[in-house]
Amino acid sequence: MCGIVGYIGKDQAVGILMEGLKRLEYRGYDSAGVAVLRGGEIDVVKARGKLDCLRRKLESTPLSGSVGIGHTRWATHGEPSDENSHPHLSQSGEVAVVHNGIIENYAPLREKLTAKGYRFQSETDTEVFAHLLEETLKTERDILGAVRATVRQLEGAYALGVLCTRFPDRILAARKDSPLIIGLGEGCNYIASDIPAVLPYTRRVYLLEEGEMAQVFADHVEIYDMEGEPVHKEVFEVTWSVDAAERGGYAHFMLKEIYDQGRAMRDTIRPRIKDGRIDLSEANLTDEMLRGVRRVVITACGTASYAGQVGRVLIEKLCRVPVEIDVASEFRYRDPVLDPEDLFVVVSQSGETADTLAALRLAHARGCKVLAITNVVGSTIAREADSVLYTWAGPEIAVASTKAYTTQVLMLTMIALHMALCKGTLEPARYDELLKELQRLPDKAEEILSDVTPVQRYAARFFSQEDMFFIGRGLDSALCMEASLKLKEISYIHSEAMAAGELKHGTIALIEPGRLVVALCTQGSTIEKLRSNIREVLTRGAVVLTIGYEDSDAEKELTEYRLTIPRTDDLLAPALAVIPAQLFAYYCAIQRGYDPDKPRNLAKSVTVE
Ligand code: F6R
Repeated sequence: MCGIVGYIGKDQAVGILMEGLKRLEYRGYDSAGVAVLRGGEIDVVKARGKLDCLRRKLESTPLSGSVGIGHTRWATHGEPSDENSHPHLSQSGEVAVVHNGIIENYAPLREKLTAKGYRFQSETDTEVFAHLLEETLKTERDILGAVRATVRQLEGAYALGVLCTRFPDRILAARKDSPLIIGLGEGCNYIASDIPAVLPYTRRVYLLEEGEMAQVFADHVEIYDMEGEPVHKEVFEVTWSVDAAERGGYAHFMLKEIYDQGRAMRDTIRPRIKDGRIDLSEANLTDEMLRGVRRVVITACGTASYAGQVGRVLIEKLCRVPVEIDVASEFRYRDPVLDPEDLFVVVSQSGETADTLAALRLAHARGCKVLAITNVVGSTIAREADSVLYTWAGPEIAVASTKAYTTQVLMLTMIALHMALCKGTLEPARYDELLKELQRLPDKAEEILSDVTPVQRYAARFFSQEDMFFIGRGLDSALCMEASLKLKEISYIHSEAMAAGELKHGTIALIEPGRLVVALCTQGSTIEKLRSNIREVLTRGAVVLTIGYEDSDAEKELTEYRLTIPRTDDLLAPALAVIPAQLFAYYCAIQRGYDPDKPRNLAKSVTVE
């Protein structure tokens, strides 16, 4: 996600800002920029792409000054571009702002400002803040009062760093629902969205709380609440290493991302529910269009394709239309039968996977319109697709995909629910029930993550196995593929995902005493059949670990090894049941002494065939 850094002191700001931004690179970004106060003016340099692009621009346009703010942007509103990068200037250039978060009411604010004659240079939600502050400063002479009056008009989340030419001796900072810290130096101070940005310079920081604002001078810092009352803060001494801090105190990015899933799920679901209904109008999916869909084709690679497998079951069940799914590397070469009337869906976290992109292009060549589900704004797939639904998982750094999978599953679930309502294949009461439960999933995900000791225990018990099997039926069978892949890629334990009923047609020959079989047990309609399959492997000496509902006693009589999730609707279970599977893979890798963030032979973004 976006990163903020700011410096005020006696040294040249640019070098310090660039160093700070470099330390925020791990958050993921697609453009960057810096603004520096010089005399009575603010100079800004920004560039699409990595920090090296910005660095090159700064070589030809050097900035001089000892007060500045910088930003790495992970696009939300508007493509990654020079114009959309932060910092943003107000109309007259007297205000510069960097912002993390989303200003939800930016559209009406933008309209109001446009009517007053403000001309916007970018498509961002952030630019409204710069103009709005300039407008407020026409009547409010106190900068702190003006910032307060301006943020009061904002709905949504923000961490803000602000420069103003009329107040060149300070940086203004404010936060709500997006972190911001102040680093305390000797004769200088810093602001940053994340501690690592200031760690080369100081370990003494103030952590701003919700609704707090600050004036950061070179020699002191003033903090206020939203009523303008001064706030006394204790200095927080940072004791972690830079590396650990970047991972937010988690041992690995993968673990951090597993724990980020509640937030990621919320961010993916919430903005799409309006007046008690799923609203996918952002992707121009009209009700009429969805009513007319006769077939859905999904293509993707790896984990994204396994999310697609879950989507297939849901769309067929709820919308009563056939769904074809194929991995993109096969799809593109098999001369697929496509109809321009098909709803063609590609799923890709990175939006850059070569095979998925080729499949998208093939679909275009056959006259199909393409809907992309992706996590990266401005990625090639997002740009080339006809419509896009973003998973708001935030940057996924760990090679093994976790929060991207859960949010892809949720996005496909929302498409299925919405299309079913449009088609009239789902009773409105059942729709309401599923929608309510969908919104409870983030809390339930967090409940699972609140105690991971059983997973750690079982990983410690089973990590030395060389082969494992994942079995399940229906949606559980789709989920098994992802659970098995996660284990393979980071723990290097060979594993196979099997539709449970298929076992006895061959693979059961591999079951021998002591072999671990993980059974996914969330699908009530086939649970009795699954129990029979579990008995089949138990009688051949296998050890069975189940992942099922906490209130389901049925598995207890079969095995003592159980991982549980809170009860949910069976149709929504994959987004929860995957979490113990991710954790199991993670802790098996740890037990085997491997670094889960750096699995051998794998790259995060597969942009080659
Ligand atoms: C596995 C994993 C990969 C990706 C696959 C597609 O954990 O991450 O299997 O899912 O390479 O990548 P995207 O989603 O970026 O197209």
